[in-house]
Amino acid sequence: MIDYLDKAARLIRESGYTVAFTGAGISVESGIPPFRGRSGLWSRYDPKVLDLDYFYSNPHDSWVKIKEIFYDFFGKAQPNPGHIALAGLEQKGWLKSLITQNIDNLHQEAGSQTVWEFHGNSQWVVCPRCGARHFATEIDMSELPPRCHEDGSVLKPDFIFFGEGIPREAYDQSFAAARKAEVMLVIGTTGEVMPASMVPYEAARSGATIIEINPETTPFTNQITHIFLEGKAGEVLPELLARVRQLPVD
Ligand code: APR
Repeated sequence: MIDYLDKAARLIRESGYTVAFTGAGISVESGIPPFRGRSGLWSRYDPKVLDLDYFYSNPHDSWVKIKEIFYDFFGKAQPNPGHIALAGLEQKGWLKSLITQNIDNLHQEAGSQTVWEFHGNSQWVVCPRCGARHFATEIDMSELPPRCHEDGSVLKPDFIFFGEGIPREAYDQSFAAARKAEVMLVIGTTGEVMPASMVPYEAARSGATIIEINPETTPFTNQITHIFLEGKAGEVLPELLARVRQLPVD
């Protein structure tokens, strides 16, 4: 019987360049619901609240929902053992960088250093006119929408809305890392959102071994995944880190 966890650990240990690609699933055990599926955010909220055009034409309605989802809720979440294990792999040099679709800042709070935020970060809000950037916790959200002190414009969370371009550096660095990857860990994502979902395909096309961690199969599983580790990130990743550590030094 092949021990896939062991096989995955050996591949990571032998790899000269391992990259992780994460989605909402890695933060589920921190109390943040995924976007899709029965218990997903999009089963309770209309995704239009994160549509850029809708946001600018309905700033109050959008902000009421955005505050509820991303500020009243997200702010309380803590990194879980899955985030911490990835930071541990990086610390030991077994993981070179981490590409995340998440905007919750939990990878950084867990200690990860090289994190490419493909969809931005909810910790900041920006003025679309003067560019002023504020820490979200410093903004008075008792009256919505919050406005720029300089020019009164509606402030926008510094994460990527539907219909908005991906931050240039995060985009370029993510695809560069995907092309260099010998191993890519694909963790907790359905891969339904473009262009982020192209990152694992780019890695596979460049010869990387794809190790997927998810309690459910995804479109990646039958197309590019070499090793599928069925389970929760907060349970599988610490075990994987322990196995990599246990392997004898070459
Ligand atoms: N550990 C690992 N994976 C999990 C866990 C867990 N504990 N719980 C759920 N999952 C998996 C689900 O099976 C699903 O495959 O996480 C995935 C979550 O998928 P989505 O909700 O679609 O999230 P994601 O792929 O990150 O969405 C991409 O969509 O709405 C936009 O901008 C938003 O970045 C987001 C993008």
